[in-house]
Amino acid sequence: MSRVAVIGAGYVGLTTAACLADLGNDVIVVDINREKINQLLHNHVPFFEPGLIELVERNTKAGRLNFTTSYREAVPGAEYAIIAVSTPEGEGGEADLSFVEAAAGSIADAMDGPLVVVNKSTVPPLTGDMVSKVLRNRNQKHTAEVVSNPEFLREGSAIQDFMHPDRIVIGSHDRAAGEKVAKLYEPLNAPILITPNIYTAEMVKYASNAFLAARISFINEIARISERVGADAKLVAEGMGMDKRIGPSYLDVGLGYGGSCLVGEETVLVRRGDRVSLTALAQVFTEFSSIEETEVLAWQPETGSVGFARASAATMRPFAGEIFEVRTQMGRRVLCTPDHPFVTRDGVKLASELGPEDCLPIAISSQSGAELARSQELVRSGAHMSAGAATEVAVRTELSSGLWRGVGMHVAAEQVPLPDLTWTQPVEHKRALLAGYWQGDGSWSYIRGGPSVILECGTTSRELADGLLRLLADLGVVASMRVGRTTKSTRDTYWLRISGADQVENLLDLLRESERKAITESIDRQKKRTAPTGYRREGANTAWVRVVGVERRPFAGAVYSLEVPGVHTFVTTGGLVTHNCFPKDVKALSALAERFDYHPELLHAVMDINRDQRMLVIDKLRECLEGLNDRIVGLLGLAFKPNTDDLREAPSIDIARVLLAAGAQVRAFDPAAMEGARVKLPEVEYTRDSYDLAAGADALVVVTEWNEFRRLDLGRVKASMRRPVIVDGRNIYDPQVMRDLGFTYRGIGRD
Ligand SMILES: NC(=O)c1ccc[n+]([C@@H]2O[C@H](COP(=O)([O-])OP(=O)(O)OC[C@H]3O[C@@H](n4cnc5c(N)ncnc54)[C@H](O)[C@@H]3O)[C@@H](O)[C@H]2O)c1
Repeated sequence: MSRVAVIGAGYVGLTTAACLADLGNDVIVVDINREKINQLLHNHVPFFEPGLIELVERNTKAGRLNFTTSYREAVPGAEYAIIAVSTPEGEGGEADLSFVEAAAGSIADAMDGPLVVVNKSTVPPLTGDMVSKVLRNRNQKHTAEVVSNPEFLREGSAIQDFMHPDRIVIGSHDRAAGEKVAKLYEPLNAPILITPNIYTAEMVKYASNAFLAARISFINEIARISERVGADAKLVAEGMGMDKRIGPSYLDVGLGYGGSCLVGEETVLVRRGDRVSLTALAQVFTEFSSIEETEVLAWQPETGSVGFARASAATMRPFAGEIFEVRTQMGRRVLCTPDHPFVTRDGVKLASELGPEDCLPIAISSQSGAELARSQELVRSGAHMSAGAATEVAVRTELSSGLWRGVGMHVAAEQVPLPDLTWTQPVEHKRALLAGYWQGDGSWSYIRGGPSVILECGTTSRELADGLLRLLADLGVVASMRVGRTTKSTRDTYWLRISGADQVENLLDLLRESERKAITESIDRQKKRTAPTGYRREGANTAWVRVVGVERRPFAGAVYSLEVPGVHTFVTTGGLVTHNCFPKDVKALSALAERFDYHPELLHAVMDINRDQRMLVIDKLRECLEGLNDRIVGLLGLAFKPNTDDLREAPSIDIARVLLAAGAQVRAFDPAAMEGARVKLPEVEYTRDSYDLAAGADALVVVTEWNEFRRLDLGRVKASMRRPVIVDGRNIYDPQVMRDLGFTYRGIGRD
């Protein structure tokens, strides 16, 4: 029998403590959450986990299991201190290790003899070294050996998983400490792998998680193909799983999870059919449909070419926390979540990692749409480039340059955004439009008396400024932007400025005849032609600008992203290029790899696929209900999986919030997770059971595959619904049976 202190009374800590006590050890659990410890002292388990209450009760009664909030009560006299505290996702996707660090510090303060400190929290490789350092620095009197012993239990079957594990992984720089931990597990008769250094054991956990995520992404991709060719992905997975080399687990087609990262006002150039418009991300999301093809302007990292590429998904998620404003030279700025990735000269980096040493690309398109369509590089990269509509529209509408000049004049006078037709015009019409605008609202001046010249214009419309920057980029010109207020004005003015002899000459025809002469003469007087400053041009389509600042500010609202397969980028406000966003799952491992100069291609693909999966349900609902506004949608299940009340990373939260944002009324029922959900989702109506949920609803969505949903009286459900629509996010029903019952049924990967 050993004396064990367990740090943290969560799913992992409490299960570990109760199981070790049941194996005959003397266990004391310490948690900083007083309320939790109080509940446990009164024989109440603060979360739902089958069988845990009985186990806790039995061992508490037998005197083998105790609870405290004091490390001084728990640690002195213990042979082991097992850290099982939370490791939430931190800024930039890496694991937040502050709880682990705090726990190590408190252990060090309370230690009164040699101790083996076991890390069970899920942490990235190298964390063990950090824990050792904290222990050493805080307590020089007593030595503690650190051992990594990652936990693989699954909520809902935690006790079974702890008592009958597939394997136990233990790693330490100190072999004796590793073997001492192995002794704790001897009664389980399970295979034990002791690794000769701590990093290997830490890596086993991360690699296992990434592999499982890869299996899910794999089958979700197969599901999307299956849907298109008329195969049933659920049966495809069953057939695959019968192969012993593959096995059936983690091949369930279902809901991945969303993630997205720019605020809704940031813009993209969108092409649908032969219409191109400059659109805010929030609107792209609202209008996005997986049926009609949506293309967005994207930038190809390998070749630096620019063109339209198919967006496979638009995502939205609620975000509360610090939003980052990334500011660059030439006055570009974009608001994004801290974990939003950017393409930099040195590979992909998250917003929170950007600093003054980083350069970001601005996309310049100096070719017409038709020429771009022939750009072989983008086609090869997998992005779908469709034929440019530019010339066609121009010929059909037969609009003269003069007319476009007139449109430009109108834009200048009214300060309204550029008309959508702008984007499909040939270059000469774009120039005419810009000339019209410039002659209304532009000006030119000498820099410090000459001979260098700049062109400048100002507008109070953010949309117009964004449009002008992009239009100038279409003509091969990189303008800078400055936002400021004149003394008299109460509104921001966006000042666009064009400098450099070549750039100014390129735009001479924007100006009146009389002005052109003065400018040309001045430029000719330059001994050395001035080059534009503030960016570095590379190839025909890219200007690199340095990051000049990243500012944080509080934010609560929706954030958005787009998925553009192949190129993985899109061109946002002011022409700045941003990467598609990463979903949470494998992000920490990927961030770690990037820190060590390795670009994890497969992990990126896994994340991309995972991200889109959750939004499929929304697409299917929108299609079946012809829109979501005012529709009543019932969620069958909220917990992230059956037999638990855990809502962390549960798809239900995102799905409910997206539906609410789209104007739907959302109801929900879950056998265990309603209490927690009421706090997270107060706008949702919670019902007594599944039948109440169905009554009067336009659609039901199966979010969690609780067994009781499989046994519903579906005839009764259908009779009470306003429309018999079921979107089965977990494929628990048989499509044929559902159709025979008269439901409009949509599964995942088996329509
Ligand atoms: N839940 C799972 O299925 C699962 C499975 C395998 C591994 N893990 C990992 O195990 C770890 C714990 O997960 P969980 O689900 O049990 O988390 P949890 O949030 O349910 O519990 C963590 C507990 O730690 C306590 N705590 C935080 N800081 C503390 C401190 N300084 N001292 C004492 N107590 C402190 C919290 O109050 C909380 O009660 C995480 O790293 C997680 O990734 C979880």
